[in-house]
Amino acid sequence: MKAAVLHEVNQPLVIEDVSVPNPGPREVLIRTRVAGLCHSDLHFMEGLYPHPLPAVLGHESAGVVEKVGSDVTYVKPGDHVVTCLSVFCGTCDQCTTGRTVLCTDTTVKMLPGQSNRLSWGRKEKLNQFLNLSSFAEQMLVHENAIVKIRKDMPLELAALIGCGVITGYGAVVNTAKVQAGETVAVIGCGGVGMAAINGAAIAGAGRIIAIDTNPVKLQLATKLGATDIVDPARGDVVQQVRELTGGGVHHSFEVLGRKETAEQSFAMLAAGGTATIVGMIPFGQKIELHGFDFLRERRIQGSSMGSNHFRVDMPRLVEFYMRGKLHLEDWISAKLKLSEINEGFAAMKAGKTVRSVIMFDA
Ligand code: APR
Ligand code: ZN
Ligand code: ZN
Repeated sequence: MKAAVLHEVNQPLVIEDVSVPNPGPREVLIRTRVAGLCHSDLHFMEGLYPHPLPAVLGHESAGVVEKVGSDVTYVKPGDHVVTCLSVFCGTCDQCTTGRTVLCTDTTVKMLPGQSNRLSWGRKEKLNQFLNLSSFAEQMLVHENAIVKIRKDMPLELAALIGCGVITGYGAVVNTAKVQAGETVAVIGCGGVGMAAINGAAIAGAGRIIAIDTNPVKLQLATKLGATDIVDPARGDVVQQVRELTGGGVHHSFEVLGRKETAEQSFAMLAAGGTATIVGMIPFGQKIELHGFDFLRERRIQGSSMGSNHFRVDMPRLVEFYMRGKLHLEDWISAKLKLSEINEGFAAMKAGKTVRSVIMFDA
């Protein structure tokens, strides 16, 4: 099968012939149908986060089950599934207390540099990425890295749920637990930020402020539920948000992964407000906050993959789409072939796309 391989950071991905073995007892082989391009892939491609290379990237996907391991009862060949990198064991302390994204059991994970499920006829080991490696025609994953979905759900839209949508929506609904009527600001309106905005609308947030340097994104944000837009070109972002809200927001979401926007997210809070950092701030980078702001009970927290319980959350998101509440069609800016993947990442770098998806042949 074909897979896009990152050989070295800051180099284009190369399409290579790769093979996977038969599924182990708890593994599932999936025919990849759609894989989304997420900014997290780009963070790794640019070396802002370390990962053993060469590796097959990609972690936002949907497909059809091809084969299952001897102990797998959850799915059967032909089932439609969405993948999730938050593979869980179900029995560790984190899992049994409901925080499956923080699962500590390494036996269910494909550990970077250790997992050995991909081969490519060379001596050099090919690494799997985030338990998935979706930029490939087939994926061999743990059974607890997938969720079954209804077959009338279009797979290109389902794929988006696998990372961008669950990450943004989950940050609002699961991590921050936004209440009806509260004010929300979202900094960075790419695929993940748009999902945060749409999620805030579903949660019944009172005012939803979209902040992005790209006016096209701000227009789309309005369609997804933003009530106000803030363009950084028009002046200080924090001041604009304070003026709009008369003192700051209850919740802010940083969905970009930069020091300055993380600092803005904290500075724009009303007393008692909470900033949630969704973006991946470059490894090793520190952020600075005004200590005084904590006196008024402001909080800042991280959110990983939207603190998801994906077996529950993702089918719900499918239902939201089916009922017209989640506007997934608006996310897709381009449909690409696997061979066009580098063009897709170039467009992301230029901030032009919400989501580009790779469509694999059926
Ligand atoms: N202020 C506000 N918005 C900005 C700024 C800025 N200074 N600079 C860039 N942006 C906007 C871009 O115009 C773009 O719309 O941020 C958005 C980023 O979107 P994508 O590149 O599509 O990123 P996305 O895939 O949504 O991921 C965002 O979340 O999960 C993490 O790792 C992911 O850190 C990444 C973040
Ligand atoms: Zn992602
Ligand atoms: Zn666990």
